[in-house]
Amino acid sequence: MSDILDLIKSRRTIKEFQPKFVSWENISRVLDAGRHAPSCGNLQNWKFILVYNSDQKQSLAELCYGQYEIALAWILIVVCAEPEKAERYYGSRGRNLYTVQNCAAVTQNMLLEAHSLGLGTRWVGAFDEEGVRNLLNVPAEISIQSIVALGHAKDTPEKPPKFPLEPITYFSKWRSRIKDPAKYMNDIASILARKKDAAAGAVKQVISEGKELFKSDSKPDAKDESGEKDKTEKSEKKTEKEYIINY
Ligand SMILES: Cc1cc2nc3c(=O)[nH]c(=O)nc-3n(C[C@H](O)[C@H](O)[C@H](O)COP(=O)(O)O)c2cc1C
Repeated sequence: MSDILDLIKSRRTIKEFQPKFVSWENISRVLDAGRHAPSCGNLQNWKFILVYNSDQKQSLAELCYGQYEIALAWILIVVCAEPEKAERYYGSRGRNLYTVQNCAAVTQNMLLEAHSLGLGTRWVGAFDEEGVRNLLNVPAEISIQSIVALGHAKDTPEKPPKFPLEPITYFSKWRSRIKDPAKYMNDIASILARKKDAAAGAVKQVISEGKELFKSDSKPDAKDESGEKDKTEKSEKKTEKEYIINY
């Protein structure tokens, strides 16, 4: 699978895993995708703890409020953060917001790389942080952001409903909506394509008319030229009017 949008759309949160081997090579690819995530000021204030021992996975699953299915994932990647590092540069916004966002970007990168390798994941955010801290000897100044359960999916869950673009996309300002943004955006693309064609056509016409003038001193057909121009302008206006709804 090569198209990133296909990959994004077909990734699913895995409910059940098969107790099946995942190579270290693939695990390292997933980690690599994580470390290439964007981060505030490129601080990369994260650390990953790999949990692959069965007993430890079982204990961790229990600390995820009984999400025992993840104990069957081949490995659990615990994404930790160093909030102080971000606070040093960006104050409380760095500590409380950027740090969380950095690790969310890491987590999503990992899920997508795993999916591209044909592996399944579950983003686990529900866990007893203090319990996990004790289990894995994580110091107090480190926060535990997410756990990525990585393995082979037993089956692919159905796609849960996702909001269409229309109710979640505003144009220019809050609550300023457009009826069918995807269609509208496609139409913008076709307007641009039409303009490009029209411009190329106009250039061709000017050249051929110039040649005609040279040859016979005859005038270009004014009726055809204005008729074509009117048609283009009208359809552009219609497209804009058609899609904008004022609330
Ligand atoms: C911050 C966050 C925390 C999550 N925590 C859990 C979790 O603890 N357990 C779980 O099964 N899924 C968890 N999920 C996965 C969501 O339930 C899942 O993404 C959502 O149901 C949509 O399904 P999809 O990922 O297949 O599109 C979490 C997702 C996010 C982004």
